[in-house]
Amino acid sequence: MVIYFSATGNTEFIAKKLSGKINDDALNLINRIRENDYSPIESSSPFIICAPVYVCEMPRFFAQYLKNVELKGNKKVYFVFTSGGYTGIAGYLAEKLIKKKGMTYMGRAEFKMPRNYLINTRYPMLSDEENIARIKLSCDKIPSVAEKILKGERLKARHITLFEKLITLPFNPVWVKHKHTADLFCSTDKCIGCGKCTKLCPFDNIDLVDGRPVWGDRCEHCMACISNCPVEAIEYGDISLNQPRYRIGKYI
Ligand SMILES: Cc1cc2nc3c(=O)[nH]c(=O)nc-3n(C[C@H](O)[C@H](O)[C@H](O)COP(=O)(O)O)c2cc1C
Repeated sequence: MVIYFSATGNTEFIAKKLSGKINDDALNLINRIRENDYSPIESSSPFIICAPVYVCEMPRFFAQYLKNVELKGNKKVYFVFTSGGYTGIAGYLAEKLIKKKGMTYMGRAEFKMPRNYLINTRYPMLSDEENIARIKLSCDKIPSVAEKILKGERLKARHITLFEKLITLPFNPVWVKHKHTADLFCSTDKCIGCGKCTKLCPFDNIDLVDGRPVWGDRCEHCMACISNCPVEAIEYGDISLNQPRYRIGKYI
């Protein structure tokens, strides 16, 4: 069974393509995460866990969810990461987490997809052409990953160095604590009060107050709200002004 989290569609796209190729079910974890639903997930086939990379790791809330949910049935677990190009130590932490659950880590596949973190201007958003090229290259890679999974082979990915671990392990929590806040999110006068952002937030962190979104304190910077607003009425202070919003639906 393929299980996944996705905020702007990249991971969902890969997860669904992969599940189609291996003829297995795909389960979106977003409602379970939103509702703190830790009821067991059962699969007779290997688990294929798909997630985006956040700050060189698997998103911490996602790792936390995996740690606490019981994965029943098959003991083998593959990981699939989508990223803007650098997966950091996501694979290392995934392997550790899965071994702690008493399961067998079967390796990881990495898909370089369009960037979605529009409020991190250190890594500029890509052009339409670059986004399309990345999606195409990723599509081309899916059959070989699916074949290995179907044959029960381990997936091989690049070696993660000690240096990367030493840098990322202390850096990630500091970044997440100080940067992943909703403090600067606001709606502009373009807002039509449709409430789409409230429904898309995986953390149930947005309420409509007098027809306008108000953010709480459980933000993970996933970009679901700002990227999917139908009238681009969400900004993040002035950091997001004139930045392109990314969602895969624009390209597929
Ligand atoms: C908070 C946050 C942090 C990110 N950190 C990284 C990163 O460290 N390395 C990277 O290559 N991409 C990074 N990205 C980009 C995403 O991993 C990438 O666009 C991913 O495919 C988005 O998946 P989704 O569309 O399924 O949500 C980050 C995105 C967000 C929102």
